Amino acid sequence: MKGKGLIAGNWKMNKGIGESMDFLGRFVDGLEREGSVSELIPASIEIVIFPPIANLYAIKHAASLKKGVYLGVQNVHWKASGAFTGENSVSMAVEAGAVFALIGHSERRQIFLETDEMTSKKFNFCVKNGLKPVLCVGETDEDRKNGLAEAVITRQVIAVLGSREFPADFPPLIIAYEPVWAIGTENNATANDAQESCAAIRKVVGRSIDAKTAGNTLLLYGGSVKSSNAEDYLKQDDIDGLLVGGASLDPDEFLGIIRAASFLI
Ligand code: 13P
Repeated sequence: MKGKGLIAGNWKMNKGIGESMDFLGRFVDGLEREGSVSELIPASIEIVIFPPIANLYAIKHAASLKKGVYLGVQNVHWKASGAFTGENSVSMAVEAGAVFALIGHSERRQIFLETDEMTSKKFNFCVKNGLKPVLCVGETDEDRKNGLAEAVITRQVIAVLGSREFPADFPPLIIAYEPVWAIGTENNATANDAQESCAAIRKVVGRSIDAKTAGNTLLLYGGSVKSSNAEDYLKQDDIDGLLVGGASLDPDEFLGIIRAASFLI
């Protein structure tokens, strides 16, 4: 992490509106108690919460939502509108308050069978329509055991960045490295392994686009991150932030992770 970090919480399919408001109240109180941490938000530490889309609008308009805490959507479709039962469009997510979108999360790839091609279409549609995509990549346990970890994450990154062009004013790319075997398992990657994979991703971005874009890309690690291990990752040269699942559901744990980031700024 180099003087700027992004800490994101992916709530997955957890928390209704009542629980979201309860989280927000406790989280914002905690931030206000820690003046030195909240002063760093949002200039040095960007915080993004990805709640279920059903709660986005209510959270966005909650009086307690602190400036600098951004919201994101966990999934969007790649078409503007149409007969896609159960899906949500980019414009709907933006209208509800989303600034970011998770694209290609492993749960979407594995449970909902999303392909690299679908991931790429979603990513492109976000870029064109003003939602900042957070591209998620990561190998399975089997890939890693077969020595294919780097090949898989390279394929996933190239499938999306491959031959595309970005508008000149496009903000930094954000890519989250989330090894599937580390998600929700307490079997988190070592800081060294996470660093190696993030460095490999940065190289792929450099080869696919250019060195400047690669240097500006924000790389996040995700997979069983907690307040007790956050600092180990954030100290790595190529890790600029964290994508937190389970630990982001608890306001005190999430605050602990943000505190770890603030010590390193
Ligand atoms: P956990 O932090 O629960 O392992 O989840 C990580 C994740 O999938 C975030 O997107």
